[in-house]
Amino acid sequence: MKKIVVIPGDGIGTEITDSAVKVLKKIDEKFKIGLEFETRDAGGTAYDKFGEPLPAETLNACKNADAVLFGAVGGNKWDNVKAELRPEKAILGLRKGLGLYANLRPVKVSDALIENSPLKPELVGGSDLVIVRELVGGIYFGDRCESEIHNGAERAWDLENYSVPEVERIATLAFETAKIRRGKLTSVDKANVLATSRLWRRTVTKLAEKYPEVELNHLYVDNCAMQLAVNPKQFDVIVTGNLFGDILSDEAAVIGGSIGLMPSASIGELTSLYEPIHGSAPDIAGKNIANPMGTILSAAMLLRYSLKEEDAAKAIENAVDKALSEGHRTADIAAPGEKVLGTDEMTEIICNLL
Ligand code: IPM
Ligand code: MN
Repeated sequence: MKKIVVIPGDGIGTEITDSAVKVLKKIDEKFKIGLEFETRDAGGTAYDKFGEPLPAETLNACKNADAVLFGAVGGNKWDNVKAELRPEKAILGLRKGLGLYANLRPVKVSDALIENSPLKPELVGGSDLVIVRELVGGIYFGDRCESEIHNGAERAWDLENYSVPEVERIATLAFETAKIRRGKLTSVDKANVLATSRLWRRTVTKLAEKYPEVELNHLYVDNCAMQLAVNPKQFDVIVTGNLFGDILSDEAAVIGGSIGLMPSASIGELTSLYEPIHGSAPDIAGKNIANPMGTILSAAMLLRYSLKEEDAAKAIENAVDKALSEGHRTADIAAPGEKVLGTDEMTEIICNLL
């Protein structure tokens, strides 16, 4: 049996992970993988129940699983909770605790959705890129101070640091990813200002000697943000640090039509974790209107990377693509006047297509 720990988390997390589990069960009937599911608490929901966002047993269950399927955490309900107990600490703690150093965020445009993009169709059509985001270092995990008095004024600070081995590890994965795609790697930093970025750029440049077949270029993050909107087709693989990767991947999601469609894989030394890149969307939680496709496509990535079930992964991706090309739409991707499906209906359509 293959054990999958499911962490719904907060907000729409429950609905979208329910959908993905239904799809995985359907896949299991077909491909006889032998999937076993175990649900665990994390996020604000866990804070309410146990007084902490990431209970030790949740982390332990993940360590003993073959893979983790994660929904989303957070919500304004917990805005006034102490920083170290915020729901977001659950996902950050899982990333650190499982050593999930690389977050793969693929962005592909389904032909059926080209017209829905806020960007011009001729601009987005054919875009196919993947952001490789460093996930356990940088400013997210540096020392910080919530409040101190300095020169008579209150201030706060967050420290960014990157070591050469940390950059080498993520850059190696990015080069390897580029090698089996179109052989193009863009490294994104802010080397005109930041010391961490200058070390990043030096390290990536040095590593490039080992990958003569990969064409490497460097972009400053501000320029990259603009290039993503102006000419997304120029990109194959983008590698960047934790904070820049967070921001650029939300921006890149627009190319694909909706952030609700975007999956991700967080690859680590132990168990890997799969989650949509969108958040917990508390405003639409419990209304059966969230788009489950980002999570369903994350489940496909789980099958591909953790369980090495490429055919099953492809089957899910094809079913999602078919649902879109047949014109099925959730609210986030429906054009005015188009019929809008709920989370459950969309899930059922995808299961039937499987
Ligand atoms: C993401 C999210 C998280 C992040 C939050 C919830 C901590 O925005 O996965 O992109 O910033 O990494
Ligand atoms: Mn984010």
